[in-house]
Amino acid sequence: MRSTQVAIIGAGPSGLLLSQLLHRNGIDSIVLERQSRDHVQGRVRAGLLEWSTVELLQEAGVGERMMREGLVHDGINLAFADGYARIDLHGLTGRSVLVYGQTEIQKDLADARAINPDAVVWEASDVALESWDTSHPHVSFTHRGARHEVRCDFVAGCDGYHGISRISVPHDRRSQYERAYPFGWLGVLADVPPLNDELVYVNHERGFALCSMRSRARSRYYIQCALEDSVEQWPDDRFWAELYRRLPACFARQLTTGPAIEKSIAPLRSFVVEPMRFGRLFLVGDAAHIVPPIGAKGLNLAAADVRLLSHALVEFYRAGATGLLDEYSERALDRVWKAMRFSWWYTTLMHRCSDDPFARRLQLAELRHIAHSQAAAQALAENYVGLGFAGPAASRSKPEQA
Ligand code: APR
Ligand code: PHB
Repeated sequence: MRSTQVAIIGAGPSGLLLSQLLHRNGIDSIVLERQSRDHVQGRVRAGLLEWSTVELLQEAGVGERMMREGLVHDGINLAFADGYARIDLHGLTGRSVLVYGQTEIQKDLADARAINPDAVVWEASDVALESWDTSHPHVSFTHRGARHEVRCDFVAGCDGYHGISRISVPHDRRSQYERAYPFGWLGVLADVPPLNDELVYVNHERGFALCSMRSRARSRYYIQCALEDSVEQWPDDRFWAELYRRLPACFARQLTTGPAIEKSIAPLRSFVVEPMRFGRLFLVGDAAHIVPPIGAKGLNLAAADVRLLSHALVEFYRAGATGLLDEYSERALDRVWKAMRFSWWYTTLMHRCSDDPFARRLQLAELRHIAHSQAAAQALAENYVGLGFAGPAASRSKPEQA
């Protein structure tokens, strides 16, 4: 039976980044991934990094191409009522964000891990966790027709929302919080120049739209659609016409259309499981929480979990201390819930959530308030560029009871 220090389930960004950071700190791990490397790399996801995520990827030694090809953005635009307000992220917070596709991060991480050919087992089926509640967990899996077992000190469940890590824990030991939204996002990737240097988020009575990008030659556009829609109902011409209708004239005239190279519909969901640690099993990224896509917090939250867990494991193996491991769930959840709140709020502000004219008036009033109040714009900007972690001292600093 092979043994390792940390068994990692899932080779999405969470699993690969954790494995890479552990490797750089001399900690051995194995990553077990159900899909092939090509399949995992072919998934189109968001592409907006908070600066703390940028720094973590640099710490992991995979920042070189990202810093060369990524686009630094200092602001975003909120379009509504045929006009728009620019939110000066850098001016309001001193921080920027980096536009760099998750697909590219996935590639950079897989290349870095490929230096050790035993580090990642692609196409590992029927992965099972056992004894995660004891000091001797092990995982088993099937690869190329043979069953294997790995003994480890810790298991990191990095296997996304549909993985097995979370559901290996009995129901009565976890609490789940969930919200589904009554609409979806239709996303199109096209090799056309973006309509603007910065992202444009659009609140329109026909529904939300977002103009994003992957590079100066590749655009990523989204429009709010009905949950029951299918991509076949949205041929390219219909998509571009609908996007055009939702844009204020100043942006619409900059729109360049072209054939979609990818088109997909995603449902929107908020989800959190508590706690994020069960014995020697730690849940990381989408395995523990899902946010609706506006604001692109999914990958950034995953990176924040990885940062906490990798530092905790390094402390454990260097000094034998369990303090950071013990704090992992509480500290991660503090940040997760703040991002949950922001993603929910931003979703509610920008989408057509109902036919209620009162709700629509409230949205427009709030957007005008953000456009004219520095304090309101700053609250948005601070969340958008990413919140830090509340340290143990901060979470204790509640007002004293009289
Ligand atoms: N066994 C092995 N691997 C599994 C299993 C399983 N039973 N179930 C799922 N996986 C793999 C998936 O194939 C996937 O490659 O786990 C990986 C989970 O990756 P993601 O879903 O990308 O989750 P995560 O790495 O936490 O990334 C979080 O990136 O993927 C985005 O939307 C996500 O933005 C979010 C961020
Ligand atoms: C994306 O480029 O996919 C993206 C960017 C910003 C968001 C959401 C998605 O808020």
